[in-house]
Amino acid sequence: MTILITGGTGLVGSRLLRRFVEARVNCRALVRPGKEVLAGAAPVEGDLLVSDSLKQAVEGVSAIVHLAAVFRTQNEDDIWRANLDGTKNLIAAAKTHVQQARFVMASTGLVYDADASHPGLEDDATNPKLAYPASKIAAENELRNSGLNWSILRLGFVYGDGDGHLAAAPNLAARFKWHPARTFSLVHQRDVAGAVEFALTGAMDGHIVNVCDDAPTTLYEMARLIGSPIEPSAEPLTDPWMGRIDGSRLRSLGFQPTVPTVYQAMQQGIL
Ligand SMILES: NC(=O)c1ccc[n+]([C@@H]2O[C@H](COP(=O)([O-])OP(=O)(O)OC[C@H]3O[C@@H](n4cnc5c(N)ncnc54)[C@H](OP(=O)(O)O)[C@@H]3O)[C@@H](O)[C@H]2O)c1
Repeated sequence: MTILITGGTGLVGSRLLRRFVEARVNCRALVRPGKEVLAGAAPVEGDLLVSDSLKQAVEGVSAIVHLAAVFRTQNEDDIWRANLDGTKNLIAAAKTHVQQARFVMASTGLVYDADASHPGLEDDATNPKLAYPASKIAAENELRNSGLNWSILRLGFVYGDGDGHLAAAPNLAARFKWHPARTFSLVHQRDVAGAVEFALTGAMDGHIVNVCDDAPTTLYEMARLIGSPIEPSAEPLTDPWMGRIDGSRLRSLGFQPTVPTVYQAMQQGIL
């Protein structure tokens, strides 16, 4: 059983790959020219935007874990190209060469409407305005209508294993003028890997599933945890459910995150 992982050089993918390689899962990684992935994973050079490069990547795999995406940029064309066109290309390659392979795709908890009246539920109607979540919803729809055996994991804010992501909290607050009391659903890297592993068993086939821990956390607390104080905001707290996702479906399917809160991660030394 070989699993293709895209995005294996990224914040999430590099840690997922390490866990899978340590667990002796047979991993193949799509890597762009000039990039390297962890030893132990078999690299296949390619690019989501170069359709011809994807045949070699998908051939013979039993599952695809699609993490690759672009979102830490203001360039909307790049975001749409990678997240929608790139995903379409990967889906097309899977349909042509490995129709039976399970296709697990990472999406984001930011797809839910900012002015929602509750934490995002998987069946909520979504109509995101920003390029990143909008491109993810478009890619989700491509996958759902592909005829492949799919599952979609809408991740909360991922942190842990020294990825430094919590340190982004003060910048996010400043850039988007977010109130320090804005609350985000978080998920530890270990539980992202666990949820993907769970999806690979088939337990999430045909499902969209929010993936988050038990304790939504404010930007203020995130910044405090990493010792980087956050400035008070003159702006009021608007859209209080933005950034929040409901994790009950994940639990009802049988997966319980092992790092329930960011404070537990701190105590365990796995921030
Ligand atoms: N991090 C979070 O908190 C978070 C939260 C919710 C959802 N997610 C989702 O989780 C996934 C991983 O996020 P991340 O934080 O790990 O992202 P990241 O650190 O920005 O990594 C993105 C990865 O995608 C690859 N990639 C981009 N364009 C590509 C292309 N055209 N062809 C092949 N590979 C390409 C990058 O490769 P290069 O190294 O070659 O650039 C890199 O490996 C994404 O789907 C994201 O939407 C993440």
